[in-house]
Amino acid sequence: MKRSLNIAHRGFSGEYPENTMVAFRKAIEAGCDGIETDLHMTKDGVIVICHDETIDRTTNGTGFICDYTYSELCEFDAGIKFNRQFEGERIPNIDEFLDYVMDKNLLINLELKNDMIPYSELEKKVIDKVYEFGVEKNVIISSFNHYSMIRVKEYDKNIKTGLLYTAVLYKAHEYIKTVGADAMHPFFSSVMNKKIVTDIKKNGIIINAYTVNEKKYMERLIELGIDGIITNYPDKLKKILENS
Ligand code: G3P
Ligand code: CA
Repeated sequence: MKRSLNIAHRGFSGEYPENTMVAFRKAIEAGCDGIETDLHMTKDGVIVICHDETIDRTTNGTGFICDYTYSELCEFDAGIKFNRQFEGERIPNIDEFLDYVMDKNLLINLELKNDMIPYSELEKKVIDKVYEFGVEKNVIISSFNHYSMIRVKEYDKNIKTGLLYTAVLYKAHEYIKTVGADAMHPFFSSVMNKKIVTDIKKNGIIINAYTVNEKKYMERLIELGIDGIITNYPDKLKKILENS
């Protein structure tokens, strides 16, 4: 059976400020096979990396990303709230991130955070960046907004898409075909079931489950043959994968 991939969630976010360059560097040092990260768009159309629609939780600023220009956003510190030792980390833009990962043979999971704010042409802009940095073979674009995943395929059918969801979907393998996606990205408890996993895998669909931080769940998902495990602790998962 193929080994599950170790995908660092927002970088090595268990120990470093999420979605910052230090978190991405440390995830790679910890031995991850891939990185998951979240994308929004600024007022002047720059794609930036942050989980929430606002910068309140993760930076020393407040307000919506879409209300700032990129240069205004750069004034805020994205490390200091996590720990003073990370003072000086900034909100990365997509170019910085892709430039850093492009030659590292990683799975790159770009989550479009467009389920609350319908950023204009986010799909097209992200795909253009993916080609600019030559990472199209390594990328899965995912979202909780499945209409957006349709738009990705309309723009470029060769880009892989992943459907994020939390429910225990009835016949998930049939639903995914209606959206034309390549992968399911479920909350992990939605697929803790051999029949569900077998049905999805039999249909040639990739399953990458999030966010798995406890040893017992990592072990169970590995046993079930999940393709990718998205975790805040790539160091812990690496050890478990080595012993499984
Ligand atoms: O992509 C997996 C996971 O990150 C989705 O949920 O809220 O952590 O972005 P969230
Ligand atoms: Ca995410």
